[in-house]
Parts: sequence; structure tokens; C-alpha cells
Amino acid sequence: MSKLWTRKPLSSLLGDSSTDGAHALKKTLGPLNLVALGVGAIIGAGLFVRTAAAAANNAGPSVTLAFVVAGIGCAFAGLCYAEFASMIPVAGSAYTYAYATLGELVAWIIGWDLILEYGIGAATVGIAWSEYLNKLLEFIPGAPTIPFAWCHSPFEVMRDATGAVVSRGIMNVPALFIILMLSLLLIRGMKESAFVNGIIVITKVAIVILIIIFGWGFIDPANHHPLIPSPQIVVDSQGVSHHYGGILGILGAAGVVFFAFIGFDAVSTAAQESINPKRDMPIGILGSLVVCTVLYILFAHVLTGIASVQDFRSSGREASVAFAITRHMPGYGWLAKLVTVAILAGFSSVILVMLMGQSRVFFSMSQDGLVPKVFSDVHPKFRTPYKSNLLFFVFVGLFAAFVPGDIVGDMTSIGTLFAFVLVCVGVWVLRVRDPNAPRQFVTPMVPLVPILGIIVNAAMIFGLGWPNWLRLGVWLVLGLTIYFGYSRKHSKLTAAK
Ligand code: ALA
Repeated sequence: MSKLWTRKPLSSLLGDSSTDGAHALKKTLGPLNLVALGVGAIIGAGLFVRTAAAAANNAGPSVTLAFVVAGIGCAFAGLCYAEFASMIPVAGSAYTYAYATLGELVAWIIGWDLILEYGIGAATVGIAWSEYLNKLLEFIPGAPTIPFAWCHSPFEVMRDATGAVVSRGIMNVPALFIILMLSLLLIRGMKESAFVNGIIVITKVAIVILIIIFGWGFIDPANHHPLIPSPQIVVDSQGVSHHYGGILGILGAAGVVFFAFIGFDAVSTAAQESINPKRDMPIGILGSLVVCTVLYILFAHVLTGIASVQDFRSSGREASVAFAITRHMPGYGWLAKLVTVAILAGFSSVILVMLMGQSRVFFSMSQDGLVPKVFSDVHPKFRTPYKSNLLFFVFVGLFAAFVPGDIVGDMTSIGTLFAFVLVCVGVWVLRVRDPNAPRQFVTPMVPLVPILGIIVNAAMIFGLGWPNWLRLGVWLVLGLTIYFGYSRKHSKLTAAK
């Protein structure tokens, strides 16, 4: 039984990170590259799609406050990530930290849970990509648009003004397509160069700033009143009920828009490629978080000021930013088109980072023997974990093609929130167990900061509601079954004891 709590020694982890040869990663990233990497992974579907969903279903204009709550939760978790990432600069992120601090079972749970963050997260952004692709096709004169049935899951329906169902989804083909393309790119070994990433990041940030600046003049103050709507239950177009308004609405919306912050932790998976991880990891993690939080709050204020909650509940629900500009900002059609193209490019980079993060975590787990060797088999020519990429294409593709975006988005949020809670616990535990281990970046005010991190992130888990708790529970039970049926028997660390 005690083997469940076996911890991987810090010295062995640091040894793993300095491995030479075919698996050594090149150290090229400085602090600015790391902030850019973070921002590149962070700004995506959360901002451009889920803000409108959260406004429509949960919070109305108080979605701005939801961004503040989610930002605070991420800041606490980010401070904890920064301590770990500067201390254990190893790809594998939260999974690796847990292996060092809380033992194998918890490490497994986090590794398994990270599939929700990276794998299901990639599916969510794939679905968002599909929405904006259709928007782009609308802008091209004479181009056919993709029929509703072929760009939605079987659980979604289209209704007319009277509420009658006029079409049903069959399969989200564009979402499947983009996941396939990017999986193939990863197999081919596209090394996302700092240059390409830099251009995408600059484009994304520029678009957000342009929308804030041009949109500010089109804010209708009536759309911001009341800022916090009175509590009620609303039923969305798919028949799902939500707590709308009040504190519960803000918490629910925080859980939804939390998705927009996911990715700052991806900086920590680049620890082995950082030139000076001890100093730069905290800068990369906290710097990208600060930049995005400020942009998000301003953006949410503008978007909910331009369009009304009713807009977001009806036709403006999909590709909401392009919709809001086209409908409410006359003369800015060019901006809607520019935004749509930039968003499609931006989503692609987020999906790529997520698919890559997924294969990195499973690569580490496979090397530890917790998942089969197939996940660390490397292509003889491309030197990429191609079998893992293909297996995850099938898994992620199934979710992207057949599950609605809101559901996969919430699953991603709850899975990541759960990982954040465990990382906060881990920092605290390691301080108690190993107070003298060298720490380059020290999380301030331990245990207060980890405790606040646990509380705020747990509150967002609470706000996501019971269907999501159930999904997380089922996922974890499935993971535990695999752990006790397979991983425990194959663990290299346990075998070595
Ligand atoms: N934060 C990333 C996004 O919003 C995952 O797409």
C-alpha cells in the first residue's frame, strides 16, 4: 500500500532533465520567449467564444467580474506553479511536481486529469475553430457555408424564431479536420520556432487591443445595466439549465471563462528548453498571466457593452466577436474579417500547443512505466512520438466531432482547476516535508497563498455545477481503474524499490 505514495526523488527528476542524446531538448528560450509562449497558448477560444457563452448563460455583463475571479484563482495557482517550475524544471509539469511531492498515485491522477486539460481542451478549441471557419466562409462572396448538420455534434439542434427544430447536428467535420492537420504537423516534427510563435502572438494581442480601442466607442451603457443581473434559471437553446445572475452566476461564469486562462501552465512544460529556468520560469508564467488578465477584463467589458445578452443567446452565440462587430459596429466590416482570420490562426496555435503538451505529459508517464511504451515510441526519422500523436488524434477527434463545445469546454475547465488545486497542495506539502530544498522562486506567504488558491479554484469547480462534477468523477474513477489494473504493476519506480 505504501508504494502508492512512492515519490520520485528530486535528484532523479533533475537527472532526467539533463539527459543527453536523442531525448535532450535544446535550450533556446529566454524570458521574453517564455512570456510569448504563454500568451500564445493562453489567448484563444476562451476569450473569443466562451466569453459570450458565459455572458449568455451565467453572468450577463458581470462576466467581467468572472474574469477577475478566474484571474485571481490563476494568480494563486501561478505563484505555486512558479515555485515548482523553477525548482523542478522538467517537462511533464504538474504530473512531475506531484510525483516529487505527493507520490505516485496523486501523480497518476494529475497525469490522467491533464488529458482533460490538454486533450479535451484541444477538442474545445477545434470546435471553436469550426465556428469561425463558417464565419469566414460567410465573408467570402459566393463561397458555400458548411451545413449545420456537418459542423455540429449530434447533441446540438438549430431552432427557428418560433423555437422549432430545423436542423440537427451529425458530426463536426471542420473540427475533426483541424485536429487531424495539426496532429500530422506534430508528427512531421514541426518545431514551433520562436519566430512563428512570435508573429502569431503579436497578431493575437494586436487584435484584442484593436477590438478594445475601436469597440470602446460603441459601448451601449444599457447593455451593462444591471451589472449583476438578479438570480434566475435560464435554459439555453440546447435545453440545458444554468444559474444566471447573482453570485452563483459569477462563479459559474468564472468556471467557464477560466478556460481562457488555461495555457500559462504550458510555459512550465517548456522548462527543459529554457536557458535559465530558475529565473525565467516565474517570469514566463506570471508575466503571461498578468498581460492576459488585463487584456481579458478590458475585452469582456467592451464585448458585453457592444452586444446585448439577448444577442449572445441567439444568433450571436457563435463566432461572437465577428458577430458583435458586424451587427453593432457599422463601418468596421474590415475589422470583423481581420479578426476572423487572425482568430483562426490563433486557435490553430493553441490547438498545436495543447496537442504537444498532451504528448509531452504522456511521454513522461510512459517513461515512468505508468502508461504503455507506445506513448514514448519515437518515429525513426522525425523523432516525434508519432504513435502517441495518432492515438490522441483518434481520442481528441472523437470528442471534437461528436460532443458539443460547451460540454468539452467545461470538462477542460474542471480538469484544469482540479490540477491547479493539487499543485497548490503540493507546494504546501513540499514546504513542510523538505523546507530546506533550494528554491529559486519562493511562493510568497505559504501556506496562505496555496490555501487561497485551493479555495478560489475549488469555488470555480463548485460553480461549474453537478453535471461537470459527475463527469470529472467518472473520469477519475476510470483513471483509478487503469492505475490499479495496469500502471501500478508497470511502474518503474515501484519496481526499483
Ligand atoms: N486558453 C486557451 C483558449 O482560450 C486554451 O483557447
